[in-house]
Amino acid sequence: MFSTPFILSFSLLLSLPILFFFVAPAFLTRPLPPIPVPDELDDLRLFRRASSAASFTSHLSSSSPKLKIAFLFLTNTDLYFAPLWERFFRNQSKSLYNIYVHADPTVKITRPHGGVFDNRFIPNAKRTFRASPTLISATRRLLATALLDDPANAYFAVLSQYCIPLHSFRYVYHSLFTSPSFDLTRSDPDPDPQLTQLGVRVSYRSFIEVLSKEPGLWRRYVARGKDVMLPEVPFKRFRVGSQFFVLTRKHALMVVRDRKLWNKFKLPCYKASSCYPEEHYFPTLLSMQDPKGYTRYTLTRVNWTGATHGHPYAYKPAEVSPELISRLRNSTHSASYLFARKFLPDCLTPLLDIADSVIFRD
Ligand SMILES: *[C@@H]1O[C@H](CO)[C@@H](O)[C@H](O)[C@H]1NC(C)=O
Ligand SMILES: *[C@@H]1O[C@H](CO)[C@@H](O)[C@H](O)[C@H]1NC(C)=O
Ligand SMILES: *[C@@H]1O[C@H](CO)[C@@H](O)[C@H](O)[C@H]1NC(C)=O
Repeated sequence: MFSTPFILSFSLLLSLPILFFFVAPAFLTRPLPPIPVPDELDDLRLFRRASSAASFTSHLSSSSPKLKIAFLFLTNTDLYFAPLWERFFRNQSKSLYNIYVHADPTVKITRPHGGVFDNRFIPNAKRTFRASPTLISATRRLLATALLDDPANAYFAVLSQYCIPLHSFRYVYHSLFTSPSFDLTRSDPDPDPQLTQLGVRVSYRSFIEVLSKEPGLWRRYVARGKDVMLPEVPFKRFRVGSQFFVLTRKHALMVVRDRKLWNKFKLPCYKASSCYPEEHYFPTLLSMQDPKGYTRYTLTRVNWTGATHGHPYAYKPAEVSPELISRLRNSTHSASYLFARKFLPDCLTPLLDIADSVIFRD
């Protein structure tokens, strides 16, 4: 027999998830819904397959004659700059790159047909929310899919629908794989001079921003509760950086294999506006597991001057010019930035106008 208080509390308990569902999305001042268990299990299966299949291949695997760049697009809208990217890839051999797109399946998106994005939308994509761990999951899904798909994928570049290229494909490929002088922060020479002479770099590093002394870092750290991140992630190991980065195959695999940190970073925050786990998970993981393996800076230029509500500055069509492109390329860490964000969708036409004469002329 059920007592009345029991039934009362039971029905209250039942209504909680319903309340949560209707109140949570869209408002950054409220918590976001937790990741659904079936989604989590589906991801785990994919990550396990990727971890075991991918572990036997490396940068210098003899089975892959050419190393490829995997371009990973993470979007919840149309790919605004698809025509510009089409031109970026025009006349490039398919033996040098692959494209993968993770598009939120709950949003109606026009998929580009007949070009390089045709059939490149990954099938296991899931719903994403801004400033939530779903963005981490989506990135991990892209990495896992690309690891599994092609053992020749050696670098993994994460991009969004607001990103544009700042150089030609040739320039990007050369910068990542063969240029001895692209990374200005590099001091250690390659351990094998013979291979370096053949134009093959032996030690590759990821290009990812990793910062430890940012204002507001403590607020982000305690966004899930005071001691929730312990013992796996003490505050002194907590890092921040951009969610748009270029990872080596070794690090892509490291990310897909991780369970320990993910179990912490997937926890919902009290307030989404003080969380942004996608800016913390990857820098924290890499700095804990391979502190010498990355550059600490990103190759994707972003303008945080005058940022509002966590959104960086978005360039407008009237601002697009050859001067803007050269200003955006300008970096103190590398020979140049390779990508930039954010651009408003109607920048497409002015960008196409200067694509061949400026952007893809190096
Ligand atoms: C590049 O591609 C365009 C369009 O696909 C084609 O018309 C052109 O001949 C190609 N150029 C070279 C140098 O292959
Ligand atoms: C960054 O954005 C600000 C506006 O917030 C603008 O004045 C400035 O020129 C931009 N910087 C670059 C390098 O484009
Ligand atoms: C590049 O940046 C440096 C330092 O921030 C500045 O002195 C220089 O004028 C810039 N060059 C261009 C082309 O914007």
